[in-house]
This record gives sequence, structure tokens and C-alpha cells, in this order.
Amino acid sequence: MRRILITAGPTREHIDPVRFISNHSTGEFGYEIAKEAKERGCLVTLVSGPTALKAPKAVRLITIESAIAMRRAVLKEFPKSDCVIMTAAVSDWRVLSIAKKKIKKRRNKNMVLELVENPDILKELGGMKKKDKILVGFSLETEDLEKNAARKLKEKNLDLIIATRLKAGSTVFGNSNIDILMIDRFGKRANVCHKSKRELAKIILDRVEEFGL
Ligand code: C5P
Repeated sequence: MRRILITAGPTREHIDPVRFISNHSTGEFGYEIAKEAKERGCLVTLVSGPTALKAPKAVRLITIESAIAMRRAVLKEFPKSDCVIMTAAVSDWRVLSIAKKKIKKRRNKNMVLELVENPDILKELGGMKKKDKILVGFSLETEDLEKNAARKLKEKNLDLIIATRLKAGSTVFGNSNIDILMIDRFGKRANVCHKSKRELAKIILDRVEEFGL
């Protein structure tokens, strides 16, 4: 049976027991791909950050919060997977030291948080000997969509990258129709316009299946 590992949602990087930094990811893209992969008969593991979504039926769901926890779960599942699709919006930074107690507000004092870079999980997978595993990344850009996506495809040693543009005043977070650009490792490009994430999940998995999944 084909085994597919999908990541979804945001990560939460804790500041203290009651606060965190995160992003607007809803997880919807990853959950749609997980559902579609299940319908196609794959064995699906979904590593998900916090979302408001219901777990897709018959999908193994591993919930995590931080990027470090996501990395740990993904590295554990990677050897058993034929394909990895990283839709997660992994926080690029985490707080250097998480306070054990709630940080107190001090009058007229600004708050300075020291952030350190999180590991790039997908790059790490790409750097490992991946044999015939298929690696798919996502790229959300506000500018130079094609150039940045092509660079990430190469740097992270991916088979396919799905790039979406974050237009001024609109959002790809949520369930509106969106445009994507797919670039594969042979440089083949395909634009798919104004589709729902449900429709895009099918199109992306069709493309992944062409890679031999
Ligand atoms: O470099 P950028 O964050 O735009 O790359 C996006 C792709 O890399 C996504 O597929 C995302 O899930 C993955 N990524 C990752 N670990 C990070 C940052 C991004 O796996 N720390």
C-alpha cells in the first residue's frame, strides 16, 4: 500500500505558558490532500499543527504544536513514507528561551523577544538520501513567485513545488478560490487558476501520481 505523509496547519512557538507566536494557516489545504489521498487508497499520516478542522476519516492524525515537535514526528514517519507533502506553515523562528511562568507586564517597558531560527524540516528531508521517495513542498509568496519557488525546489531537493501568491488585500488562508503555479524537478511549469482547495488537492495528487506514487 502507498504510504503518504502530509503536514498541515501552523506551528505555535511558545513564549510563556499562556502566549505564543504563530501564523494564519488554517490547515485546510493539507486536510483536503489527506482526504483525497485516503480516497485514492493511500495509507495517510497527517502531522498537524493546531487547527479548527475535523480529523479526516481513516487518516492517522498526529497533532503537534511547535516546529521542533513537527520535525520530530516527521523524521520518525519519513522512513516509512513513499511520499511527503509539506503544506504546513512552519514558523521560521522560535523563542530562544520559553518562560516557565507568565511574563509580567512592566509599566512603560517595551518587550524584546529573542528569536532563533527553526530547522527547515523539508530541506532536511531533501538532504537525506531519499531513494525513490517523492518530496512535495509549498511556497507562499508576496513577490517573485516563480523565482522564489524555483529556488526552493532546488535548495530543498524537491520533486514538485506548489507556489501560491498572497495578493494584497486577499488571503489564501481560508476557503476562497486560489491560483497556483506548479514547478517540477524537470523545470516543467503549470499554472492552475481559480480553483478551490478541494479541486487543487485532486490536481496535485494527479501530478504526484505521475511521479510514480
Ligand atoms: O522556505 P519556505 O518556508 O517558504 O518553504 C516552504 C516549504 O518548506 C513548505 O513546504 C514548508 O512546509 C517547508 N518548511 C519546512 N520547515 C521550515 C520552513 C518551511 O519544512 N522550517
